[in-house]
Amino acid sequence: MLLPDEPRLVPPTPAVRASFLAGEPADCRADGTSAAWLAPALTDFGAFVARRRGVHVRWGVPTSTFWYVSGGHYLGTLVLRHRLTAPLTEAGGHIGYHVVHPWRRRGHATRMLAAGLDECRRLGLARVLVTCAQDNEPSRRVILANGGAPHGRKRGEDRFWIPLDTPPPPRGNSSAAGKTP
Ligand SMILES: CC(C)(COP(=O)(O)OP(=O)(O)OC[C@H]1O[C@@H](n2cnc3c(N)ncnc32)[C@H](O)[C@@H]1OP(=O)(O)O)[C@@H](O)C(=O)NCCC(=O)NCCS
Repeated sequence: MLLPDEPRLVPPTPAVRASFLAGEPADCRADGTSAAWLAPALTDFGAFVARRRGVHVRWGVPTSTFWYVSGGHYLGTLVLRHRLTAPLTEAGGHIGYHVVHPWRRRGHATRMLAAGLDECRRLGLARVLVTCAQDNEPSRRVILANGGAPHGRKRGEDRFWIPLDTPPPPRGNSSAAGKTP
């Protein structure tokens, strides 16, 4: 099935309920992680979404959550920490993200991070720290494709600074041709 639109970052929305409740549990099964955090979404998806909208203090800093969405399709999540703490400066950085399994390896994370950097520009950040586990080659590629400059390793995480003083690179939309599994 073709994606109806170019995916974009939006605040969590009830419009992707079915897709979210398919994609995230499938991700947990594939990664062998607990899906317990999804129980409230099954009970009351509207309330689950409402709790994720807006700015909340997490990791000790103001944090925004975005979902990467095309029409009714949920592809992944990007979390934006508005500033760094000392621990986040070592590992964690400004941005965390994931793409759910059915949509991986189609360039979505690369484009989703680019869209996340636009959100950072809107916040007025001059540069953004993104880190990934040293063995996370897909994430390393995502970061490098978005202009990440390596800046050492702390607590097992490779660190990359992305300057935001240059315009974002042009973005294609090969995603619209993607098929669901
Ligand atoms: C990391 C992650 C976000 C990548 O998502 P994605 O949508 O598959 O990434 P893309 O399709 O944009 O691929 C980026 C690059 O990684 C490569 N890649 C993706 N998955 C790969 C894999 N399993 N093995 C090897 N290379 C892989 C792609 O070929 C692409 O390489 P290229 O730029 O040289 O062409 C996704 O695997 C994920 O959600 N992982 C779990 C959470 C996570 O690690 N988040 C990052 C925390 S820092």
